[in-house]
Amino acid sequence: MLVCIPQVLTPEEIAQLRALLDHAGEAWVDGRVTAGYSGAPVKFNQQIDEQSQVARQCQHIVASALERHPLFISAVLPNVLYPPMFNRYGEGMGFGLHVDGGVRLHPHNGSKLRTDVSGTLFLAEPDSYDGGELQIEDTYGMHSAKLPAGDMVIYPSTSLHQVTPVTRGVRVACFTWIQSLVRDTGHRTLLFDLDNAIQQLNATDADAGARRTLVGTYHNLLRQWSEV
Ligand code: NI
Repeated sequence: MLVCIPQVLTPEEIAQLRALLDHAGEAWVDGRVTAGYSGAPVKFNQQIDEQSQVARQCQHIVASALERHPLFISAVLPNVLYPPMFNRYGEGMGFGLHVDGGVRLHPHNGSKLRTDVSGTLFLAEPDSYDGGELQIEDTYGMHSAKLPAGDMVIYPSTSLHQVTPVTRGVRVACFTWIQSLVRDTGHRTLLFDLDNAIQQLNATDADAGARRTLVGTYHNLLRQWSEV
């Protein structure tokens, strides 16, 4: 399940992040410092040092925005959020086909986090650069995402994906991984569909008893499938 989440960030938050990132100087490091053995040979970009002060400031802005976004919560059912990371691709940079590592170490407390959902939050307007599309493969083929600044795409971390080479301008983005309360993508998709249907029924004054049953079913499935 691939979901686009519009307006995760306000224009003010985007401006604040870009001001911090565009002046981050030596906090920008080679992206390969966090790549695994399969990703490293195909990864050509820069990212913000996870331990830097600027990373902490930017992580706080994004994590707070995600925590209050109902569509993100509904689609991801987050349990643990990996502290968001920030990258940029200048001309000629890209990231070839790869699958993200299945387990990561939390950079601040060393705990392990299973990557169920991957997310990319765009921080540059699409017309400010050429190329730099995020392409994600699922059972229905390859999907491309190049979204407005402030919008996010989330997809199962099991997916093969790549960032096509940038041919003009600079692509700046934030990315993260989430360990979901519900590990199985199929289960998460069912819960997301059910939640959407309930929200639509709530907006149409549908039969209250039937809606109560559906809400109960949602929570009973969540109880059955979630791990906390
Ligand atoms: Ni990746």
